[in-house]
Amino acid sequence: MKLWDKGQATNAEIEKFTVGRDREMDIFLAKHDILGSMAHITMLESVGLLEKSELQILLRELKKIYAIAESGKFVIEEGVEDVHSQVEAMLIQELGDIGKKIHSGRSRNDQVLLDLKLFTREKIRETVEAVHTLFNVLIRQSEKYKAVLMPGYTHLQIAMPSSFGLWFGAYAESLTDDLRLLNAAWQICNRNPLGSAAGYGSSFPLNRTLTTELLGFDGLNYNVVYAQMGRGKMERNVAFALSSIAATLSKLAFDACMFTSQNFGFFKLPDECTTGSSIMPHKKNPDVFELVRAKCNKIQALPQQITLIANNLPSGYFRDLQIIKEVFIPVFDELNDCLQIAAYMLKEVKINEHIIEDRKYELIFSVEEVNKRALAGIPFRDAYKQVGIEIEEGKFTPDKNIAHTHEGSIGNLCNAEIEKLMEDILKQFDFSKIDKAEKALLQQG
Ligand code: ARG
Repeated sequence: MKLWDKGQATNAEIEKFTVGRDREMDIFLAKHDILGSMAHITMLESVGLLEKSELQILLRELKKIYAIAESGKFVIEEGVEDVHSQVEAMLIQELGDIGKKIHSGRSRNDQVLLDLKLFTREKIRETVEAVHTLFNVLIRQSEKYKAVLMPGYTHLQIAMPSSFGLWFGAYAESLTDDLRLLNAAWQICNRNPLGSAAGYGSSFPLNRTLTTELLGFDGLNYNVVYAQMGRGKMERNVAFALSSIAATLSKLAFDACMFTSQNFGFFKLPDECTTGSSIMPHKKNPDVFELVRAKCNKIQALPQQITLIANNLPSGYFRDLQIIKEVFIPVFDELNDCLQIAAYMLKEVKINEHIIEDRKYELIFSVEEVNKRALAGIPFRDAYKQVGIEIEEGKFTPDKNIAHTHEGSIGNLCNAEIEKLMEDILKQFDFSKIDKAEKALLQQG
């Protein structure tokens, strides 16, 4: 059954090709599609397009379908194109003519726009929670090891003293900026496209403000042509924010792989967090971090993938947009897996508290010595030369008692300030408003 069936059969090959992976993808949208329908019909009744009694019957049936979707038993049957068709078919099968009234004033084009936004809101929330958990682990480790020095590198050459406190804290702060981007994407996502219909609105007297409130959106995409232009744009912007988180994680993963190498030896992973080799009996490999690195590098291709799929499309709906779902929908779980496993690994990691005592790191204290002399009145350039010559002549002896006091340095990590940054950003995601709206919608009928 096609929603657009007018009595002529579609070629089976054409059907298979155009439906593609939509049945598989749309399962993830089912709950949201049903919720969107509940808001839509509540609005239809309010403007006189449905009787109160019809609304009650439809809401009750939709609630049943919602429960099926929540239990994971929702299926899109063979021959049914997508989730929108499936829900309408189920209503018509159960309710007959009343079911046929639900689609007044909307199109699958604004339905899928809406479903994707509701889905993305839920997934952004999971991402924010997973980022927050990792952030807390990083801050805790940073505080725990703030007094433990480790070598810092530039060009992968030993450079200056760093600390485990600095290293953990750096990735915590990086996540605060990533969430800032995600919040911008969230705001783009959290506006209601419903009522834009096929992309040009409707001659029915729709109340779009009402559906906006019912679904807990911050506002609406006013212009109906723009609402449709948001397909692909919302996904691309969210993908950019996710890719920023992924970039933080892949850099962290590379550091972690390097630091566990025997040639560095800064970290040790407990045995149960490593994997072995089929031939080398001694191996304890950091495969988890290698996979996090690769998965997160792959995620950084997503904005480009979406850009290219939707590239050069004029305004208005095109079937091209359907393909974005295949790359966009799975990304959240992929990234969240990486965030969760990274948090677990970093909690378990054993650091080498004596790494700085190794003689090969003595020269990283050269700048400390130069600065000490400059503070004593020798011009910086002269002090630099003196120490340089002492190093060349093998006469340099480091003083490892260092005092860094400025903001964000070894001796003054500003972790409390970084935690405050995180707190402030988290407040900008108003998940409770959505919870309240969605709960109220489900309690209707
Ligand atoms: N599966 C379609 C998509 O994801 C749903 C919208 C279909 N609209 C249409 N005009 N063919 O884009």
